[in-house]
Amino acid sequence: MHGGGGGRGNFDEDEILGKAYDARLMRRLLGYLRPYRSLVIVALLIILGISVTEAAPPVLAKFIVDNAIAPAVNGQIGTDEGLARLAPLGIAYIAVLLLGSGLRYGQTMLASYVGQRAMYDLRVQLFAHLQSLSLTFFDRNPVGRLMTRITNDIDALTDMVTQGVVAIFGDVVVIGTIAIVLLVLDFRLALVTFAALPLLIWLTMYFRRIMRDSFRSIRIRLARINAYLNENLSGMAIVQLFTRERVSFRQFDNLNTDLLDANRGQIRAMSMFFPAVGFTRAATSAALFVAGGFWILKGEMTIGTLLAFWQLVDRFFQPIGDLAEKYNIMQAAMASSERVFRLMDTKATIVDPPHPRELGHVRGEITFENVSFAYNEGDWVLRDVNLTISAGESVAIVGATGAGKTSIISLISRFYDVQKGRILLDGVDIRELRQRDVRRHVGVVLQDPFIFAGTIASNIRLNNEAIGDEQVRAAARFVNADKFIERLPEGYETVVTERGSTLSVGQKQLLAFARAIAFNPEILLVLDEATSSVDTETEHLIQDALAKLMVGRTSIIIAHRLSTIQNVDRIIVLHKGRVVEMGTHRDLLSQRGVYHRLYELQYRAHEAESPMKSV
Ligand SMILES: Nc1ncnc2c1ncn2[C@@H]1O[C@H](COP(=O)(O)OP(=O)(O)OP(=O)(O)O)[C@@H](O)[C@H]1O
Ligand SMILES: [Mg+2]
Repeated sequence: MHGGGGGRGNFDEDEILGKAYDARLMRRLLGYLRPYRSLVIVALLIILGISVTEAAPPVLAKFIVDNAIAPAVNGQIGTDEGLARLAPLGIAYIAVLLLGSGLRYGQTMLASYVGQRAMYDLRVQLFAHLQSLSLTFFDRNPVGRLMTRITNDIDALTDMVTQGVVAIFGDVVVIGTIAIVLLVLDFRLALVTFAALPLLIWLTMYFRRIMRDSFRSIRIRLARINAYLNENLSGMAIVQLFTRERVSFRQFDNLNTDLLDANRGQIRAMSMFFPAVGFTRAATSAALFVAGGFWILKGEMTIGTLLAFWQLVDRFFQPIGDLAEKYNIMQAAMASSERVFRLMDTKATIVDPPHPRELGHVRGEITFENVSFAYNEGDWVLRDVNLTISAGESVAIVGATGAGKTSIISLISRFYDVQKGRILLDGVDIRELRQRDVRRHVGVVLQDPFIFAGTIASNIRLNNEAIGDEQVRAAARFVNADKFIERLPEGYETVVTERGSTLSVGQKQLLAFARAIAFNPEILLVLDEATSSVDTETEHLIQDALAKLMVGRTSIIIAHRLSTIQNVDRIIVLHKGRVVEMGTHRDLLSQRGVYHRLYELQYRAHEAESPMKSV
């Protein structure tokens, strides 16, 4: 992990904010609604109903005023007759309101349900896809960004399905229905109302543009704050150790100020937009009253019509204002879907062959044939490596840091493919085998054992229910992990946190041994010894466990401890990606080459302090 201002360049992708509508992306997104097609159709039908219940109440109000109240007030009909006319209209009014609420309830439920279901499907699909991707991909993509894809980006898509697409369709239908009702009621007043439209639309577009820009800069700044927090909170120990609190605080303060500034733009825009729109709408109402009053006085219009207009105008303008917001939702969703689909379309670079060779009985012979390998094109990490490790043999690989030891292990597990040469398992190129088959036979203990949040037992069986409690205990006992586990407050059920921060390095290593042995790799054991030194007692436990693990298995151990090296059949010395020496401890020492130098530098000093002097 790199320091302070790092990761700035990583957000280019999150800055993309393009079109609010992209037919290609939309078609693909709608594909996720296909399983819920009938529900979507019902939702759309309900929207038609809703638009009617939106337009109907003002029209009913008109009839109440014109047909019941006004004639009675003017004395054209009696009070009883007025009441008799009022009652059914009043009941109808309430009925329409109730119906409208009911339909809205149904529509919200349906849209949310469908949206959430569809995005649930997408999230699951994306996670499965991520699991299939090769490690090269994870080397290049920061975890934080991938998490954003599955959480924030898919949330943006859910918003679009539940509030965007459906609501926009609903808004358009409502606007259309009301426009028709307005024209039918009185086309002159309708024209007065429509006169305000250009201004409102212009205001909305203008506001939307400002909002988009500030939305974008807020997003970018928020992403930076997230990245910064992520680093500084997970690296809190380092920050405190090196007393970087002040510096770290100042950097955070700067980022936070940036965010505040970005928000300010949005606040300014919002505080201008709403009064401006409010004024336009109010002014339109005022114009309606003046014009309507004029026509009423001339006897060309009824009071009820004016009342209906007054109410309808509000319902007419509301969705137009909302469209600005919907536009932003759509735009964010389109950008998100672009990123999600790009991730979904990323192909795994390590794939099983179309016709894999079946792996029957495995003896456990590993051969590297002229293997050259680079993580990045041209940057060779292993050069022309040739070695054969026969079945049942145990070898130690030693070499300076960065020599390529861990890389050898990654290649045996086929985390990466070699660029030149081949790696054979019992004489078969591992690229002709299924990845599962290879990995099932290889027990790997990585340099930095990964502990998942859960219990000790769940970390040994890794959610494989086929591994029973007794097997878990047996595995722990076999590798000498049982002693420390039984000393824990709740034994095997002790909860450990993510990354195992409550365990010591030696304990984590023993736990990793237990995990490897619980999965019972039949033949091969590959182990990257942790570099850190452990106390003498743990060292003994590890040593003893290793010796037991190596029996009957081909073992490749990346050794950092002299005690380990002395226990193996053969030592392979790696230097800058090449195998430079091979032989037993004694042979190699007498050659006075790289191994001798390494030994002098690394092990001699250690040996002096260590109680195990048995060269
Ligand atoms: N995922 C990766 N992507 C790119 N380069 C890598 C990656 N992992 C390792 N390297 C590079 O490959 C070289 C060999 O690394 P490797 O991890 O195999 O060394 P090592 O011998 O295991 O060292 P150590 O003793 O410190 O564990 C190093 O120069 C390292 O920078
Ligand atoms: Mg390593």
